[in-house]
Amino acid sequence: MSQPDVQLRRAAWADAERVWSWNNAPEVRRWSMNPRPIALPEHERWYRARLEDPRYHIWIAQVLGRDVGVVRVEESDAVGTVSIALERGARGQGLGRRALGHACRAFFERHPAGALDAWIANGNEASVRCFERCGFAPHGADVREGRTFMQYRIRKEPTG
Ligand SMILES: CC(C)(COP(=O)(O)OP(=O)(O)OC[C@H]1O[C@@H](n2cnc3c(N)ncnc32)[C@H](O)[C@@H]1OP(=O)(O)O)[C@@H](O)C(=O)NCCC(=O)NCCS
Repeated sequence: MSQPDVQLRRAAWADAERVWSWNNAPEVRRWSMNPRPIALPEHERWYRARLEDPRYHIWIAQVLGRDVGVVRVEESDAVGTVSIALERGARGQGLGRRALGHACRAFFERHPAGALDAWIANGNEASVRCFERCGFAPHGADVREGRTFMQYRIRKEPTG
């Protein structure tokens, strides 16, 4: 049986708490560049600024109308940085790869000659696999506060 597709809808202010709960899940914090928990007021300031920033794109991933996670892309000229977090119960079903595919296509529509990066904490195997399946390839690494993050890059929209 084929799985229902993932849709992306533009995030709105009404999604603030939902996005906070996904981003603040302990296993999501663990793999983030800044691993400490985020207080809701701090998140709200961050979120409002990002919603107002034209270089920033935040989408809610939905399956059959149900919100299951958040995908965001920050653009700097023709280079973007993407990150994704799904709620726990939605992981491991191919949804991350498909949500990422939609975000990549939206990016390359705006920047056909651009490049889209992801920074993945060393050891985050689910994320590495998900980004690789989407067409991202290793492009470098960086150490931030003693932790290694691998840079993955894609240069054209994924075919799958
Ligand atoms: C990373 C994340 C977005 C992946 O999304 P997902 O929907 O779980 O992944 P998918 O089901 O699309 O799987 C994509 C590939 O990864 C593999 N995969 C999924 N979970 C895995 C795991 N825990 N360990 C190893 N591989 C895994 C799948 O088997 C699939 O590969 P395949 O097609 O060759 O079988 C999701 O797990 C998540 O939100 N994690 C917490 C937040 C996070 O780490 N975000 C990334 C920050 S860079």
